[in-house]
Amino acid sequence: MSLVGTIERINGSLVLAKFDGEPKMGDLIEVGNLKLMGEIVRLSGETAYVQCYEVTSGLRPGEPVVDTGHPLVAELGPGIMSTIVDGVQRSETELWNLTGPFVSRGTNIVPLNREKVWPFEAKVETGDKVVGGDIIGTVQETESFEHRVMIPPDQSGTIKSIKSGDFTVEDVVGELETADGVVPLKMMQTWPVRMGRPTNERLPLEQPLMTGQRVIDTFFPCAKGGAAAIPGGFGTGKTVTLQQIAKWSDADVIILIGCGERGNEMADVVAHFPELEDPRSGRRLIQRTVIIANVSNMPVSAREASIYMGVTLGEYYRDMGYDVAIMADSTSRWAEALRDISGRLEEIPAEAGFPAYLSDRIAQIYERAGRVVTLGGGRRIGSVTLLGAVSPPGGDFSEPVTTHTLRYIGTFWALDTELAYRRHFPAINWLRSFTRYMDVASRWWSQFDPGWEDIRARALRLLEEASEIEETARIIGEKALPDEQRLVLLMAEMLREGFLVQNAFHEVDTYCEAEKQAALLKVLIDFYNEVEPLIRQGVPIERIREMGVVNDLLRLKENPGTDPIDEARGLLKVQADEVAEEYEVTER
Ligand SMILES: Nc1ncnc2c1ncn2[C@@H]1O[C@H](COP(=O)(O)OP(=O)(O)OP(=O)(O)O)[C@@H](O)[C@H]1O
Ligand SMILES: [Mg+2]
Repeated sequence: MSLVGTIERINGSLVLAKFDGEPKMGDLIEVGNLKLMGEIVRLSGETAYVQCYEVTSGLRPGEPVVDTGHPLVAELGPGIMSTIVDGVQRSETELWNLTGPFVSRGTNIVPLNREKVWPFEAKVETGDKVVGGDIIGTVQETESFEHRVMIPPDQSGTIKSIKSGDFTVEDVVGELETADGVVPLKMMQTWPVRMGRPTNERLPLEQPLMTGQRVIDTFFPCAKGGAAAIPGGFGTGKTVTLQQIAKWSDADVIILIGCGERGNEMADVVAHFPELEDPRSGRRLIQRTVIIANVSNMPVSAREASIYMGVTLGEYYRDMGYDVAIMADSTSRWAEALRDISGRLEEIPAEAGFPAYLSDRIAQIYERAGRVVTLGGGRRIGSVTLLGAVSPPGGDFSEPVTTHTLRYIGTFWALDTELAYRRHFPAINWLRSFTRYMDVASRWWSQFDPGWEDIRARALRLLEEASEIEETARIIGEKALPDEQRLVLLMAEMLREGFLVQNAFHEVDTYCEAEKQAALLKVLIDFYNEVEPLIRQGVPIERIREMGVVNDLLRLKENPGTDPIDEARGLLKVQADEVAEEYEVTER
């Protein structure tokens, strides 16, 4: 029997209700005659505070409330991939079809389609012993994605029966003999979104998440199973960068959480993302993507839930043995939802009005990233990488969401308003960004380029040096600087233009493979190594700037492959020799 009660008072999206028993914190509640969805966020004496996921206008005191007896759960099974759902897993696509873009309330759509039939291929046999996490069968859910149906985490036993065939998510595909009797096996399971799914073992991180974006892969990589934040003021490139990673990274599954971003922007993603081509398969990227977006005008708590929903879906795919990348855009909107709910509960605010538990909540989310041995036998390995955009008001990184996030992530891509203004994209500031995954990246890159770490360090040093020299140049003017220093400035300019700047909308340069990244950086440093001795021995900087190869080096990124880079290296040698001869430089 589920608990029932009545509405006492309504305060915005917060509903105060009395139950005829003791409901549990976090329980999912059906509110009012409209059966709006909500969640108990506080219990105080007899009163339960229910945060509704939907607009509450029209609700009246005295209307019934029903406790579903369980917290907000994700329904897991075939039918999620390539869909667009809201923060409480209602299909936006279906909602649109049903009600148009403005969702009418109380439209209780079940998350997983109950009628759709899936071709289930059994992978175990009668008599097999299985434990939670073991794969019992597969479903080719989309052309690009094989769904692996697993024993729910808390079950184990012996397969009593199992059959391949066409089934809905609720059909019985087999039976499991457990210590407590026989239980039916279905393709669908549920999991409470605010709880991490269990694993057998957490593993050290081993591989970088390759994105094809040079400033990320080469300078500030994130590891598979790691966490990264991309903070930036208005229009600095958070969304474009995350979408580039969604498109080009070497993750198997992409989860895009549009957390309370402006409606029209999300509508844009919803409209365009399904069209994107998947560079890995030539099919559509959406075939291995889930989008969580509150296109509908839902109140804050649905936004607050959307991150947990996204992470739970991510963990589910991780448990199948996939590398999952989750992008949350933006975690600031999530934190604002938290603040809003806290305010309604009249909790004592801490910094900038956020509740004192903001930091804990941020930690709880990022802790769910990781590389693991999944439940079940066979040492299956999967990972969840979490990438969160942060939108600090006024682009000021000292505000609470940015500073707390900083403590729990391994990579920090600091977007810079001034770079964005100068149209240096991605506007990731190379002096303020950092990565704690350098050992992971170094090991990976060194496999095919032993000198990689030195070259990278050299390039970063030149960029740092240049920023110091620029300070001086601002005071005395560039022309007054010694040529050695002017060469460092030239070098930094070449690194910026020829390497760091990468146009997301350029046909070729939108993606740069690792091999090309390494070759490109190397040829730029080769240039420095060639001309630096010339400068030291009196060749004027103007003569160096006149070398034809300078321009070629800046354009290399726009040509496919690494052959043009090798050609440029040849040209560089010839032209450096010419200059040396002209100025009678002998020692090089
Ligand atoms: N890598 C890139 N290549 C080319 N242009 C870019 C790139 N990144 C960002 N831009 C430009 O900057 C604009 C703003 O980017 P974006 O929408 O991603 O910013 P945002 O930080 O998400 O902004 P908001 O704060 O409004 O959410 C883009 O429309 C695009 O013109
Ligand atoms: Mg954005």
